[in-house]
Amino acid sequence: MTRPARPFEHDGIAFGCDYNPEQWAPDVWDEDIALMQQAGVDLVAINIFGWSHLEPREGEFDFSGLDDIIGRLHAAGIRVNLGTGTSSPPAWLTRAHPEVLPMVEDGTRRYPGGRQAWCPSSPVFRAAALRLVEAVAGRYGEHPAVSLWHVSNELGCHNALCHCDVSAAAFRGWLRAKYGTIDGLNRAWGTAFWSQTYREWDEIGTPRATLSSRNPGQMLDFHRFSSDELLSYYRAEADVIRRLSSAPITTNFMVTAHIENLDYWSWAGDMDVVANDHYLDHRLDDPNAELSFAADLSRGLGGGAPWILMEHSTGAVNWQPLNKAKSAGEILRNSLTHVARGADGVCFFQWRASLQGSEKFHSAMLPHAGTDSAVWREVVALGGIVDRIGEVAGSRVEASAALVFSWESWWATQNESRPSKALGYLDQVHAAYAALHAQGLTVDIVAPGADLSAYRLVVVPGLHLVRAAEAAVITDWIAAGGTALVTFYSGTVDEEDRVWAGGYTGPFRDALGLRIEEFAPVEPGTPLHLSDGGTAHLWSERSHVTTARVEASFSDGPSEGHPAVTRNTWGSGAAWYLATLPSAADYRALIARLADEAGVPPAARVCGATDAVEIVRRRGVDASFLFIVNHGSAPIVVEATGRELVCGTEVSGHVDVPGGAVRIIREEAAA
Ligand code: GAL
Repeated sequence: MTRPARPFEHDGIAFGCDYNPEQWAPDVWDEDIALMQQAGVDLVAINIFGWSHLEPREGEFDFSGLDDIIGRLHAAGIRVNLGTGTSSPPAWLTRAHPEVLPMVEDGTRRYPGGRQAWCPSSPVFRAAALRLVEAVAGRYGEHPAVSLWHVSNELGCHNALCHCDVSAAAFRGWLRAKYGTIDGLNRAWGTAFWSQTYREWDEIGTPRATLSSRNPGQMLDFHRFSSDELLSYYRAEADVIRRLSSAPITTNFMVTAHIENLDYWSWAGDMDVVANDHYLDHRLDDPNAELSFAADLSRGLGGGAPWILMEHSTGAVNWQPLNKAKSAGEILRNSLTHVARGADGVCFFQWRASLQGSEKFHSAMLPHAGTDSAVWREVVALGGIVDRIGEVAGSRVEASAALVFSWESWWATQNESRPSKALGYLDQVHAAYAALHAQGLTVDIVAPGADLSAYRLVVVPGLHLVRAAEAAVITDWIAAGGTALVTFYSGTVDEEDRVWAGGYTGPFRDALGLRIEEFAPVEPGTPLHLSDGGTAHLWSERSHVTTARVEASFSDGPSEGHPAVTRNTWGSGAAWYLATLPSAADYRALIARLADEAGVPPAARVCGATDAVEIVRRRGVDASFLFIVNHGSAPIVVEATGRELVCGTEVSGHVDVPGGAVRIIREEAAA
């Protein structure tokens, strides 16, 4: 990505929050601002859900509250990340125009009373929203406090897939533009199957609920369309702002577990700065590794440029089955892990905990308990550290390994009919990433087809959908000397969800030096034993090596005797293949072996247990910054020399990192 026309400019690392002053009487605002100053807050997102306050009745605007709060923040020297306010329509709009309400796949509408109750294709919604954007950007476009625009909020969080008739018509328009002819569409979707052939465009709808499984090509295109449709909505808001303001524009992405609907590779180029929201998900096996993955992916979306963590939490969220409070020091570890991985801003949802509404049990910087609380004290401590590490802003993370990630593969893998319902795309990505993470390797997350020349090790987990040209980038890079690990279910279908015939892994087949005849998944929980003593689960395959060397084979299960781990010399490089999901320890051992073979070192050497430690280096012009996050309870010692910025001490040769602590070493740039 080239440098945006409007870079986000901030003095040091931004520290801030979502702030919803509408929920409070103005006398609370003064206290809020005084406490923000005490905590070091210098970037505040407001007007995220402002519409019903700004436009209480159609066409009638009232900016008095927003004028007041922007004025107060400005006077206090706090920059404003200004929401366009369009994320949830006001009651008058959905009452007058119920057709803007979204429709789910069973053909029923979803009603107001929650949030984001709008159809992404609705021209009525768009016109009303753009009128508000015009008013807001017209009024505050050149306000000196506004340093960033925040379009809508988490676009597509709830309403990405709309099945109403308006959406269906827009989908048809998108399909016509893509395929040109109905025959082209029939070929791409494989409609010869089950008598699904279309003769007229008007016969096509969105993939509403059916009695049987739905057409996978239609599902895949509907995902692509839905992502594009919201991107076009983002662009419409951004176009209005661009006319009326010179401040940079972004929206908050949801690079976080379980949210799959937008292909952010296609969105990222439109952002003046990439911004992400991330919440620890305690339903996962390794929430910390997922946090790091999301941070690395956020950086990857901006092509390595610094990004902004627009939301995370100081403690429990309110939307998981069990909402866990954070442990002592966890706020610091989480926030500074994001900074380690390229964030130039760390912000929270939200400033002051709500007393009402469905998020009243969501944590905040200022909790219900007030300032006499561990959360508040940790927030203030974090603000102090963020202030001291301002020089980190603008530096870039160093990585010599990459992982290929694809939203299209995610969508295609989650197909309703697949070899095992237990097979999930993100699970495979997380398992591979967790192994890299546990091994202490810093990884860039890249799109299929991205240039790999900066890397020595590339991991390709479950890249189910792949175009020939994207696979060629990987196999050519291997031939030129790279070391890659491709894992099962990769290279199974092309961009039209058509199986690459002739043995799975399709366009990777020759480079991998093996031919897969049949998938043989196993019941979740069933262990598979490998000839090298390892254990695995979930998946096995019946395959034959052509030119590859078998490193381990299945000792039991449905693919007994068939290869489980192989290595093929391809040109001057090595193409490894993993036909199963190893235990976490075995996965890590495999990655360690590959990293060793590829010559990829961790960012620094650790003495003692390394499992719960992450170490990342950001390189700046005059100095680099070594971030060490110790998630474990035992102290560790890490090789480092320079000035430690959290405690403000000089370290020479090594630094002691107590259990649960974070240390940031400013290393002088080599002369
Ligand atoms: C985000 C959203 C915020 C808040 C937060 C709670 O999805 O943007 O408005 O709802 O989650 O975790």
